[in-house]
Amino acid sequence: MDAADSRPASLFSETHQLKNIDAVFGIMDFYTRDHARRVAIYAMRLARRVGLPPEELENIALGGLLHDIGKVGLSPRIFRNKEATLSAEMQEEIRQHPSIGVSLLKGIEFPTPVLDYVYYHHERGDGSGYPCGLTADKIPLGAKIISVADCFDAITTDRSYQKGKNRKDAFAILKKARGNGFCPGLVEAFIEEVKENGMVAIWPPRRLESELSALSVHR
Ligand SMILES: [Fe+2]
Repeated sequence: MDAADSRPASLFSETHQLKNIDAVFGIMDFYTRDHARRVAIYAMRLARRVGLPPEELENIALGGLLHDIGKVGLSPRIFRNKEATLSAEMQEEIRQHPSIGVSLLKGIEFPTPVLDYVYYHHERGDGSGYPCGLTADKIPLGAKIISVADCFDAITTDRSYQKGKNRKDAFAILKKARGNGFCPGLVEAFIEEVKENGMVAIWPPRRLESELSALSVHR
């Protein structure tokens, strides 16, 4: 039997861990939960567009879904905050969420890249990111893809401290970050993808499983 034939018909239907993850999502704030779903969809679309293989698309989808799961370990004051600028102390706390995320997930049998994507999704090509300050050549491609998707969704959606920008302004911000923050090729491919296939709907929230199954290239 071809390996592809033995895969579950639905991307996550046989992944029992997803029930636990759903339970964790249940205690997250609505924005973080819906943001995670949109980032997973954007990241998978970008991964498909740059020609990554199906198994890598799945890793990236999971990484996108789980990238901010470590925020469950942050104090409630972070989520109550309405200011655009955070105190140095709060910024330091937020910078812990990739490490907290990996601590939460490491007991679950995910493919290794998924944990790497969670851990490195705030690294930036010029070394200005966290938690490690890696430069572009050291950041896993999947983490770079999730970073672009994460940034675009954060810019284009309403937060407690700022109104979401339109996609034209968001494209300009991403383009400005090419080279120092984000991989130029990924930014170009992402912009093409959104121009061609549109933004992920904010409301009603997309059912992630059906959305990802529809996008998956191996069925
Ligand atoms: Fe994050």
